Amino acid sequence: MASLLRRAREAADGGGVPPTSLIFDCDPGVDDAIALFQAFGAPQALDLLAITTVAGNVGASLTARNARLIRQIAGRLDVPVVPGCERPMVRPPVEAGHFHGESGLGHLPIFEPEAPAYPGHAVDFIVETLMSRPEKTVSLAVTGPMTNLAMAMVREPRIVPRIKAVSAMGGARREGGNITASAEYNIYADPHAAQIVAASGCPLVMLGLDVTHQVRATAERRARIAALPTETARAATNLLTFADEVERRLGTGDDPPQHDLCAIAYLIDPSLFLTVPCRLSVETGSELTLGHTAVEFRLAAGEAGNARWATKADAQGVFDLLTETLARGPVRPA
Ligand code: RIB
Ligand code: CA
Repeated sequence: MASLLRRAREAADGGGVPPTSLIFDCDPGVDDAIALFQAFGAPQALDLLAITTVAGNVGASLTARNARLIRQIAGRLDVPVVPGCERPMVRPPVEAGHFHGESGLGHLPIFEPEAPAYPGHAVDFIVETLMSRPEKTVSLAVTGPMTNLAMAMVREPRIVPRIKAVSAMGGARREGGNITASAEYNIYADPHAAQIVAASGCPLVMLGLDVTHQVRATAERRARIAALPTETARAATNLLTFADEVERRLGTGDDPPQHDLCAIAYLIDPSLFLTVPCRLSVETGSELTLGHTAVEFRLAAGEAGNARWATKADAQGVFDLLTETLARGPVRPA
């Protein structure tokens, strides 16, 4: 455990390597919020250029408000929150309020955040940032429907070769679907966007249900976080308690998987995950299997594949990193 904590500390501190410049695109969302606390709390590893938000778990105005609210709790008003697309590219919107509550943040006390949102659109921000910064220096994490990134690629295809990495939570292979029998929510919510991103040739790492279902907030892991004296740990405990209640009532009945946290933990410490090259395709035509991710590991000789698929996670390492990060949050007032 000591070596894990040391690695978690080194990873959160960036391990001596320069921080990754990151645009974090999300639809908070209870598990997005946990991932936001991880990202906001690891400035030595992640140089957050912006949080961009998208309609998904709840509507676009709520995901933007929720990102601003989590930003304020984390004490990171230096990071702009840039609202984005208010609906998927083609299909009608489908939300996941049953898993995230009416506010999108479960039972977390809601307040109007002090700092406003950035006065621009996420798609423009993504294009302008990638076109203005040096090639291969900006990465993206995507933990909601891929609408913003896909629309940016359509608007300005020249951004694709300039992207350093895309770490996306989405899809399922061995685990089957969580919103339909064959589709995971983020891909199902905007399958056309996911197909555009998968076909783009960007350096894509997919952390799907196959791996996120290995990363569960067990009672022991939740208790370690609850014992921490910080505002971020208190908020995270509230969110994880809600997620546990919902997972037992509506989900698998097991401890709540921390889907979106995996996409951020991967960028901080890739050694926490095993990934395999694959040919990734997304179903956009069939009503029965819309949003299904077909993940083919049997590549032709010389075929590099269009994505890497995460198959294994060091769940304890992910939670050690999160716990270490939350322990450094703003301390609760006495
Ligand atoms: O399937 C899990 C994904 O759908 C997560 O990103 C969660 O926030 C929901 O959006
Ligand atoms: Ca999400």
